[in-house]
Amino acid sequence: MFNNIYKNKKVLITGHTGFKGSWLSLWLELMGAKVIGYSINVPTMPSLFELIKPKSVDIRADINDLKKLKFIIKKYKPEIIFHLAAQSLVGVSYKETINTLNTNIIGTANILESLKENKFVKAVVVITTDKVYLNNEANKHFKETDCLGGYDPYSASKAACEIIVSSYRNSFFNIRDYGKTHKTLIATARAGNSIGGGDFAKDRLVSDFTKAILTNTKLTIRNPESIRPWQYILDTLRGYLLLGARLLEGKKQFAQAWNFGPKNTDIRKVEDVIKELYKHFERFEYCTDKTKTFHETKCLKLDISKTKKELKWIPKYNMVKTLNEISNWIKTYQQKKDIRKLCVKQIKEFCNTKN
Ligand SMILES: NC(=O)c1ccc[n+]([C@@H]2O[C@H](COP(=O)([O-])OP(=O)(O)OC[C@H]3O[C@@H](n4cnc5c(N)ncnc54)[C@H](O)[C@@H]3O)[C@@H](O)[C@H]2O)c1
Repeated sequence: MFNNIYKNKKVLITGHTGFKGSWLSLWLELMGAKVIGYSINVPTMPSLFELIKPKSVDIRADINDLKKLKFIIKKYKPEIIFHLAAQSLVGVSYKETINTLNTNIIGTANILESLKENKFVKAVVVITTDKVYLNNEANKHFKETDCLGGYDPYSASKAACEIIVSSYRNSFFNIRDYGKTHKTLIATARAGNSIGGGDFAKDRLVSDFTKAILTNTKLTIRNPESIRPWQYILDTLRGYLLLGARLLEGKKQFAQAWNFGPKNTDIRKVEDVIKELYKHFERFEYCTDKTKTFHETKCLKLDISKTKKELKWIPKYNMVKTLNEISNWIKTYQQKKDIRKLCVKQIKEFCNTKN
């Protein structure tokens, strides 16, 4: 997969201790990459990162610390950066607003600023989200060319990331000057709700479900009617890796924004996903708690036609297969079996699955 492009590549992953970062570190390790991870902490307890212990250089530092970031990039000389580090939760962004804005906006600017001083980073994939779009709840599928917005601070911070990336790309890493004044291609990736085993973050559906199963308690959900573009974690990461590969190959037309979302049949209500997931556990216990709500978009849909046509990416797994992988993960964890082994198996099976 990816024509062996990641073999022996030095890859910096910011946010390597988080849900996506842990899976990405392991996958890159399996492909023979040399991973350098940069994160402020291990964000949850338990955590996927601690369970699989990816073989990476493990740096604990703040993305807001520009001096440290520059030092690390200079020291390890990565050829590609996957920038995932973020305050990633909408709910937390209402309480820790300034931290969210600093980490997500200035943190991203710090990554880009660090690139000015070196010539060895060839590719940067900045991870934003499907929530970057101006959403008037008009039930539309968002295209990459649609207006950016952001009702809550998290969404606004990620939309701001998109603008910052675009500004750095225009001003310092313009594709017009690629190969002349610079050698760096920068893209952004806007993915929907990525679900898979090992998510323990607060107020996320699979995470809350996992905790309810493990503690034998009733699941509380906030908005059963909300519609989200659900996709398997490895599908999302395959999108990031494909995009990174095209940038590493020097294909400058890929230095732009890309949507990564599911097929239309997997754009589903929260309640539908929960009902399907419970079928694997022969239980059905959840309640709705409206008192716990904060403003969240009701309906989120992504148009992935550009990604499908140009990057040749479409999701490999549908909802049924995805929920199967998640329930296997939860059962393996419940039985205190080897999680790293299971994750390796899930990655290998995913790689061997044809589209
Ligand atoms: N999980 C999803 O469904 C989803 C959907 C769309 C976009 N995203 C985006 O994908 C990325 C990864 O998401 P995730 O689910 O793995 O998040 P996560 O919350 O599990 O992990 C966040 C990571 O960022 C690091 N981090 C946070 N603040 C930092 C700081 N100041 N300095 C350095 N590191 C810091 C944490 O230590 C952790 O490693 C984020 O940018 C998130 O916004 C996630």
